[in-house]
Amino acid sequence: MTQRIYLSPPHMSGEELVQVQQAFADNWISPAGPHLAAFEKKFCEYIGVAHAVALGSGTAGIHLALLGIGVQAGDEIFVSTLTFAGSVNPIVYIGAKPVFIDSEPVSWNIDPALLADALQARAKTGKLPKAIIVVHLYGQSADMDPIIDVCAHYGIAVIEDAAEALGSRYHGRHPGTIGRAGVFSFNGNKIITTSGGGMLVSDDKELVEYARKLAGQSREPAVHYEHTEIGYNYRMSNILAAIGYGQMGVIEERVRRKREIYDYYQTHLGDIPGLNFTGEMSYGRHTRWLTVILIDPEIFGADREQIRQMLETHNIESRPLWKPMHLQPVFQGYETIGGEVAKTLFDHGLCLPSGTALTDDQLARIVSLIREMAVQV
Ligand SMILES: Cc1ncc(COP(=O)(O)O)c(C=O)c1O
Repeated sequence: MTQRIYLSPPHMSGEELVQVQQAFADNWISPAGPHLAAFEKKFCEYIGVAHAVALGSGTAGIHLALLGIGVQAGDEIFVSTLTFAGSVNPIVYIGAKPVFIDSEPVSWNIDPALLADALQARAKTGKLPKAIIVVHLYGQSADMDPIIDVCAHYGIAVIEDAAEALGSRYHGRHPGTIGRAGVFSFNGNKIITTSGGGMLVSDDKELVEYARKLAGQSREPAVHYEHTEIGYNYRMSNILAAIGYGQMGVIEERVRRKREIYDYYQTHLGDIPGLNFTGEMSYGRHTRWLTVILIDPEIFGADREQIRQMLETHNIESRPLWKPMHLQPVFQGYETIGGEVAKTLFDHGLCLPSGTALTDDQLARIVSLIREMAVQV
């Protein structure tokens, strides 16, 4: 059997191992050490934000961002329904309530017009949410200007879940730096990885330093262990920060290759009836973290699950889009505004292998298998 092709596996440059060896040589094998500060600093410089704290995961980052803006049990949080559960679980950890908002059909991110209508309706009943979590999906920024405007109007905090969007742009700015706080993930499939990890960023120093304290079991500045509030063990290890520091040097190269992979698929599959690619919004760079196709089964002759299974028989991993949160058994009972757009995207979307180490031969093989399927049926 040929070597398995994964959806988006880690891609090391060589520099990560140099940095990890340095951390070993200096014996910084703990959740403290010089690589953490260096990684945070380099990350801040790259995305253009004042403060950052490296964490054990992106999910931890969302949790701490919510706590940092004062979310409490019973508060409502508006969040995109088309996302990964990591955007939403932390809302429930706190005892707050997610309200799921549908996507708009072009960028697939939260629909700003639907959001504005929903907030206007809520304002009339005096029941506004405490915050909104805007997710930037698959490497494309959400349309932030109207979202920021309407949230400022009603005094609602904006948290950006930029887990999938490192390297993308919104009118020249980095998604994740536009709202009150932004969160990134360095999970193994992300554009850069620390094997697992996350980063919480903000221009608000107090918010980031509070998150840093909570992430270290809320230890007070005392020589003994003193605690005045509940904390979490959410710190990133210095070893993983060394990997992240090494990965920082290749972000732009990874974005270039991701976009090249998207272009390859589009060039070689774009003419097939019933198979559609998503455009890039005029407001900024799409990283194409994952190339996603939308399949019209009536015209193509097979649905996304049949294509996925066919690729799987050739040891090639592909994956449906995120199953919307309002369709997840665990989130039944929470309110949803709209939902049909996200459901349709889930029904028809397939993420194709998009790893930056994919060879041209592998890409050609994936393309020819999908083309063959189109002509067979
Ligand atoms: C949109 C989104 N939000 C949150 C997360 C959670 O990040 P992590 O896996 O680092 O906890 C992920 C990815 O894993 C994600 O894709």
